Parts: sequence; structure tokens; C-alpha cells
Amino acid sequence: MSNITFTMIKPDAVANGHTGNVINDIIVGGFKLKAMKYLQLSKKQAEAFYGIHRERPFFNDLVSFMISGPIVAAVLEKENAVADFRTLIGATNPAEAAEGTIRAKYAKSIDANAVHGSDSDENAAGEASFFFSSFEMY
Ligand code: RTP
Ligand code: MG
Repeated sequence: MSNITFTMIKPDAVANGHTGNVINDIIVGGFKLKAMKYLQLSKKQAEAFYGIHRERPFFNDLVSFMISGPIVAAVLEKENAVADFRTLIGATNPAEAAEGTIRAKYAKSIDANAVHGSDSDENAAGEASFFFSSFEMY
């Protein structure tokens, strides 16, 4: 089990002014920030990042949404980081997300669902290195 996960605060949460609250929930949730940056993804970058979903019906909508505005990308450290972070953010569809979770509090729809969280240790490592070099993680 690895102790890092990767997150993005998605364009909806950034645009709606939730960046500070989301970062606060992450820190209060016991995660340490190892790296963080604010940027807007290009179409090529978003397509590459979500390459595992290329054949899914929602792929084009997902890419369009993810490039619609700036995001915050971060690497987080905690024991059992991947599973604990997915618990902190709640279900993909905010209507099904447990009360108090980040998606329940800040997300509006299954597309505009406020945050990304890695789904495995392997993907966490790949996603972290997609955005950050080893010199940018502390
Ligand atoms: P994420 O990768 O963003 O943390 O979300 P997730 O693991 O909970 O969900 P995933 O299956 O990886 O899907 C990635 C994103 O695609 C959108 N989605 N739309 N319309 C749909 O049925 C549908 N399913 C997924 C969501 O925005 C999801 O976060
Ligand atoms: Mg996912």
C-alpha cells in the first residue's frame, strides 16, 4: 500500500470559489500537501490524463469540462491515501455522496463533481508524475 494520492480541484469548484474550503477539508482530513499547482489543462493534456476513459460515452464531455477553466492539481500524503481520499470526497455522483464529503458539499452534478481522486496506488503514482517532477514533490 502506497501513501500518496493525486487530486484535482475541478473547474466548477475553482470557478465557484470553493478552492480554499476544499484545501481546508483535505488538510483537516489528515492529508499533507506534497505538491500543488494552479493551471488550465489543454485538450491534449486532458485527453491524455483521462486516456483510460477514452472509450466511455462520457469521455468528450469529461474532457470539455476539464478544460473549461483553471484547476488546482495536488499530490497528497497520508497512510492509506487512495482509499481514505475517496472516502473524504464521496461518490462520483454528488447526489449519492455521503453527507459531509467534499462532493456532497461542493459538487453540483456527476460531471461538475468538484474533485478528482486517484483510484489506485499505480494510477496515483502515474497521475502525480503527469503533473509534477520529483523535484516538485516535498
Ligand atoms: P474522478 O476520476 O474524477 O475522481 O472520478 P471517479 O473516479 O469517481 O469516476 P470515474 O469513473 O473515474 O469517471 C471520471 C469522471 O467522469 C465523469 N463521469 N461521468 N455521466 C457518467 O455516467 C459519468 N461517469 C463518470 C465524472 O465527472 C467522473 O468524475
Ligand atoms: Mg476515476
